[in-house]
Amino acid sequence: MTWLITGGAGYIGAHVVHALRAAGERALVYDDLSTGVPGRLPSDVELVVGSTLDGALLERTLAGRPVTGVVHLAAKKQVAESVERPLHYYRENVEGLRVLLDAVTRAGVRAFVFSSSAAVYGMPDVDLVTEDTPCVPMSPYGETKLAGEWLVRATGRATGLATASLRYFNVAGAGAPALADTGVSNLVPMVFERLASGDAPRIFGDDYPTPDGTCVRDYIHVADLAEAHVATAQRLAGAAPGTDLTLNIGRGVGVSVREMIDVIGRETGLDVPAVVQGRRAGDPARVVAAAGRVGAELGWSAKRDVADMVTSAWAARPRS
Ligand code: WQD
Repeated sequence: MTWLITGGAGYIGAHVVHALRAAGERALVYDDLSTGVPGRLPSDVELVVGSTLDGALLERTLAGRPVTGVVHLAAKKQVAESVERPLHYYRENVEGLRVLLDAVTRAGVRAFVFSSSAAVYGMPDVDLVTEDTPCVPMSPYGETKLAGEWLVRATGRATGLATASLRYFNVAGAGAPALADTGVSNLVPMVFERLASGDAPRIFGDDYPTPDGTCVRDYIHVADLAEAHVATAQRLAGAAPGTDLTLNIGRGVGVSVREMIDVIGRETGLDVPAVVQGRRAGDPARVVAAAGRVGAELGWSAKRDVADMVTSAWAARPRS
């Protein structure tokens, strides 16, 4: 089967491309290269450079190739930037998705996997977040992901497109150095950057109602996340028209910021002298997935732990 991966030259997208190929699937990438890096792709994977807002290019791309399904990762993903530039986020993440779905449904594609986020839950007041926990996003970014899910689901209902929305929890690690996360906007790369520049890593608040006072998250290795996409794509390809899945993609294991920093110290052999600062606006105390539904639906579960995430990210870190 052939899969079109939008955002396939990005950090997560490229892992999805490699995982699909390892599973014997064919892949074609559509990416505007705003943050994507062509060097992450296997040399024989075709790359179409374009925006998901370009309906004519999408139509031409889909017309010429036997695409079974689309895995849609192309999107803007910075929470703070989305607060500054909501119109940009709605245009890229919601209008871009609408244009893509229009082209996809006209081309007779059968399956659509949508990259969603735990950001749709906002500040969940539960130990484990199930897919039925109310969605109350706290940022324009989270809103665009929730609106995207609605758009995907409604299109599936109306046209028979088989769809899945995958709600990613906190992604970390690298499947290979060439696939590394080059952004510095999440905990692990931010700690690495501070260590590289000789500054103490920061802990944003240690007065949360958690066991050690720091925020608790559900970290998942990007290679596990990529394999979840393969399982989803293969499931949708054989599913009844109109099938609609909404799945948390996490491990169901809570890890605090302090615990993560301890793992970084242990795995790198470095002294990691973190300093505690004030809380970062908008951070929920605890966001951990209930990961049972994805296991039941796909037979998938994460295989890698936080030590694997840290060692692989460390091996792939930028060196100057
Ligand atoms: C994790 C924890 C920080 C850096 C965000 C988005 C989410 C998703 C993933 C896209 C928090 C703390 C961080 C540092 C720290 N994005 N921290 N010191 O905020 O859980 O999730 O990224 O899909 O939608 O909201 O991830 O990695 O930024 O932070 O103490 O130097 O680490 O306060 O508690 P977050 P994160």
